[in-house]
Amino acid sequence: FPIEQKNYFAGAKAIDNKQKTTNLVLKPGLEGVPVTNSGICEINGTEGKLNYRGYPISELAQKSSFLETAFLLIWGELPTENELKKFEKDVQMHRRVSFRIRDMLKCFPESGHPMDALQASAASLGLFYSRRAIDDPKYIYDAVVRLIAKIPTMVAAFEQIRKGDDPIQPQDDLPYSSNFLYMLTEREPNPLAARVFDRCLILHAEHSLNASTFSARVTASTLTDPYAVVASAVGTLAGPLHGGANEDVIAMLEEIETPDKASLFLNEAIAKKRKIMGFGHREYRVKDPRATILQDFAEELFSEFGKDEMYEVAQALEEEAISKLGPKGIFPNVDFYSGLVYRKLGIPRDLFTPVFAISRVAGWLAHWREQLGANRIFRPSQIYEGAKVRNWQPLERR
Ligand code: ACO
Repeated sequence: FPIEQKNYFAGAKAIDNKQKTTNLVLKPGLEGVPVTNSGICEINGTEGKLNYRGYPISELAQKSSFLETAFLLIWGELPTENELKKFEKDVQMHRRVSFRIRDMLKCFPESGHPMDALQASAASLGLFYSRRAIDDPKYIYDAVVRLIAKIPTMVAAFEQIRKGDDPIQPQDDLPYSSNFLYMLTEREPNPLAARVFDRCLILHAEHSLNASTFSARVTASTLTDPYAVVASAVGTLAGPLHGGANEDVIAMLEEIETPDKASLFLNEAIAKKRKIMGFGHREYRVKDPRATILQDFAEELFSEFGKDEMYEVAQALEEEAISKLGPKGIFPNVDFYSGLVYRKLGIPRDLFTPVFAISRVAGWLAHWREQLGANRIFRPSQIYEGAKVRNWQPLERR
């Protein structure tokens, strides 16, 4: 397989170790602080544009498949026909997980959050494939294939196990996205549902240095294995300010109940300085382009399978928010409509973020590769504000 000839590190430039920062200026949340060069993803936050390796997201979502997009992100170029066939076949061959992983998942409390189960099971892959040969192209390729192949299987297995059922084995003749939906329901999905799901995976696959990808790069910079890289990123994605917001959006829409109550809800939330979930983004000052595409997907699904009553609530909230939050550059982000799409596809609410992780693993792995291409361990500074040196006091004098 010609991966050796690919430029893994497209976009990464050698780091000048002599460029040292001397003036310590605190930037909370590292806003506007570049921490790497990257050639993976370009965001234009004022025009609402997003490209993966130069290809507009709208075009990829329309014409590509998730596995083709993952290949593009990780290896830098769109695959040839043979490369894509091989990649799809390799991923298909590695979908199954060891019975030990299934047994481990059975030991987890069924009330636990699926993101915690995913983080633990992703990390456990490092035990099974423990050879750490991050400069060996075969090891890298195998790790990429395994992570992309097995993460959906582990998400679906935990879902079955917590319902009291045995995990459903992957079905070899089903494509990637159809197979995931099959493992969740034991039914072959409707072709439109499978295609929309695959396009959702494309949309969520990469988004530059968001919190989880930064986490992945920090972990990668220690030269640990890719399973640890992905596990740390999964843990970061789980938070409600990041990937976890898609769950909270549905809870918020249900709290609003009907479109006519959207205005009151918004006014009260603004007065109480409560965040509107699914709104706002560090990079965008306009509507997230992925939110626009997801809204189209939602409408496509609703016209085929019936409307979700919460869609009108979402539309009413967005309309109200334009005048009240728009002037501050706060608009719907990727999480605002994704929950409604996933809900229509029959995906349980607490699997929305694991589904995000199934997709984002492609971006994390692309950044893992890029980080290794020009690595320097992340070790930022702090501004110390604690106590000055003082004398230790024995217990009886404290
Ligand atoms: N609702 C209401 N006000 C908001 C929102 C929101 N969703 N987002 C930001 N603001 C306001 C803040 O209150 C703040 O106002 P102030 O200056 O008057 O105090 C200002 O906008 C800046 O907000 P920060 O939280 O400092 O912006 P930051 O760039 O740090 O945060 C974030 C971005 C975390 C996405 C934020 O917009 C947010 O919490 N959104 C809701 C959660 C969410 O949807 N997360 C998913 C993001 S997409 C993703 O991760 C996949």
